[in-house]
Amino acid sequence: MPKAQRTQVGIVGAGPAGLVLSHLLYLHGIESVVLENRSRTYVEERVRAGVLEQNTVDLLCEMGVGERMKREGLVHYGIELRFKRRGHRIDFQELTGGKGITIYAQAEVLKDLNNARIATGGQVLFEVEDVGVHDLDSPMPKITYRKDDADCELHCDFIAGCDGFHGICRPSVPAGVLTEYDRTYPFGWLGILAQAPPSSEELIYTYHELGFALLSMRNSQLSRLYLQCAPDEDINGWSDDRIWRELRTRLASTNGWKLTDGPVLQKGVTGMRSFVVEPMQYGRLYLAGDSAHIVPPTGAKGLNLAVTDVQILARALEEYYSKGSHNLLDSYSEVCLRRVWKVQRFSWWMTSMLHRFPDDNPFDQRRQLAELDYVTSSRAAAKTLAENYVGLPLEDH
Ligand code: FAD
Ligand code: DHB
Repeated sequence: MPKAQRTQVGIVGAGPAGLVLSHLLYLHGIESVVLENRSRTYVEERVRAGVLEQNTVDLLCEMGVGERMKREGLVHYGIELRFKRRGHRIDFQELTGGKGITIYAQAEVLKDLNNARIATGGQVLFEVEDVGVHDLDSPMPKITYRKDDADCELHCDFIAGCDGFHGICRPSVPAGVLTEYDRTYPFGWLGILAQAPPSSEELIYTYHELGFALLSMRNSQLSRLYLQCAPDEDINGWSDDRIWRELRTRLASTNGWKLTDGPVLQKGVTGMRSFVVEPMQYGRLYLAGDSAHIVPPTGAKGLNLAVTDVQILARALEEYYSKGSHNLLDSYSEVCLRRVWKVQRFSWWMTSMLHRFPDDNPFDQRRQLAELDYVTSSRAAAKTLAENYVGLPLEDH
């Protein structure tokens, strides 16, 4: 006989979506159990996103998990767009009425959330195996899994599929229910984390004949940098020396600016795609974050979008448990998707403007440069970029 347990909301995946949801539900007095197939160390050390929108920062603070982020995070009020070896600042503060972004690694957000879940008696089970979701169209769906060689069952009112792009929740929806919208890009990003003080106070997004480059950071001693590369680029062909040389070439500027290098602590290649499923719900299964959509990283939106999905889902579950109303649950997918598509558009646009596409001809390249020139010289265009980058407001309907 499997070991059976009952909870209100069963959450698959302890990434940003799963952990934010679990803690928000706790704050509303709703019980949940999070099931994660990796170890806590693996999840907390994976190098991923680093840019938090104002909305994400505000939410983490309201949830009581923002203290270290406030202390250690770097608040930025602009970014630089660099092309033709010249830098142009987009001033978020001036263009958005005082908004900014915070640089604080996804891994640190997850550590803070895990600590808060543990301190408040939350159940986050790591290293579970063979997770399956069942009876999704019944009033009591069930999650099966194995933990320490024992078969277990979790009976829930609702299941939140927060298990990322390669998870099992989305594929568990019967064939024909979901429609997929997909675009892959003919390039990837080679990313490094380096023991080197950031060479700029703000992020630098660079368009260059040899391809896109991005300078970012984690703190005063750690730089995070990216290079456009082939989607299947072999990382073994990139010595640290070659990476720094390429970064120096692409980021070069006419004003004597210098790139500070240092030991490379971590490096990897990430593919780029845009992907959405509609609807983000089937029966009592609600998909949130990367399990429902992927954006190319150029707009720094993946993590922020995952957080807004679960903010909307938590509100809907709170309404259900406090008032018995299904209204917000019924509109969950529609409300999320309106925002998801706007963020998809922005991420696609930033990607298209800043990367070299293998099939582009000189006309396309001149057009990209004209677009960059326009964005950095027209207040209206700069404002469009700024309001999307700091994060669009969360709408109720
Ligand atoms: P995830 O963070 O993927 O979390 C899902 C969790 O579910 C994982 O912990 C996973 O182990 C778990 N899981 C999966 N399958 C199962 C299962 N069967 N059973 C139980 N648990 C399961 N975004 C940016 O904005 N900027 C970046 O620079 C950036 N870099 C990235 C680099 C990489 C390599 C990747 C993969 C993504 C990157 N992203 C970036 C995207 C961003 O990290 C994601 O959008 C964000 O993590 C989404 O959060 P999530 O909780 O929806 O999914
Ligand atoms: C980082 C990642 C991004 O995708 C981006 O657009 C900006 C910064 C980062 O990892 O710091």
